[in-house]
Amino acid sequence: MVVRMRGSVVANPRQVGTVTRELSAENLHVKKLISEDEISSRVSELGRQISADYADRNLTILGVLTGSIVLLADLIRTIDLPLRVGLIQASSYHGTATEAGTLSINASLVPDLTDRDVLVIDDIFDTGNTMVGLFDTIRDFNPSSLKSAVLLWKTERTTVAMEPDYFGFKIPNEFVIGYGLDYNDEYRHLPYIGVLEEADLNESTET
Ligand code: IMP
Ligand code: MG
Repeated sequence: MVVRMRGSVVANPRQVGTVTRELSAENLHVKKLISEDEISSRVSELGRQISADYADRNLTILGVLTGSIVLLADLIRTIDLPLRVGLIQASSYHGTATEAGTLSINASLVPDLTDRDVLVIDDIFDTGNTMVGLFDTIRDFNPSSLKSAVLLWKTERTTVAMEPDYFGFKIPNEFVIGYGLDYNDEYRHLPYIGVLEEADLNESTET
């Protein structure tokens, strides 16, 4: 896979304005599915909805590492309420880059959630197995309520009975990258949601 990024070395590190770093879909061989502006306005809407729904509650936003980091940072800044932020990690081992393997949850970073209204934030709800597994783990922390919010929902792929409580966009069954979502742990930094061109998806790569 060839990833080209144009850039110039900064002569004076304080002159950051002179850096030209293009994260264009063209440079990265990706098809843009959801633009930065579309994401930003939808995330603000979600923030307003969450602010209304959780007024007078004890909100803890629990971000799922690593995919939620970009959404987490943007979403919490649109929520006009006192809130706490915590993290939990979910990973799939021995899957290919585009198909999940066995779910592993690391709850060692989770703060005290007793009597807290917990909203779990993840990048995408695909089959839904990750969120179901996360809920099973988080329930043991005795939160007073537990809900989920994701940026993307791949409805055709969902196999669990559960649905996300908040979602940004329903998307078709395509492998997407950017805004926290990775392919082989790359592309998370793209500010938009893109679809990799077929030729760049190398299924033989094990993660
Ligand atoms: P689920 O357990 O099938 O719902 O999958 C959830 C996890 O799989 C997400 O947190 C992502 O890490 C990953 N995932 C699912 N679909 C995609 C995709 O299209 N691009 C990148 N990661 C994905
Ligand atoms: Mg992930």
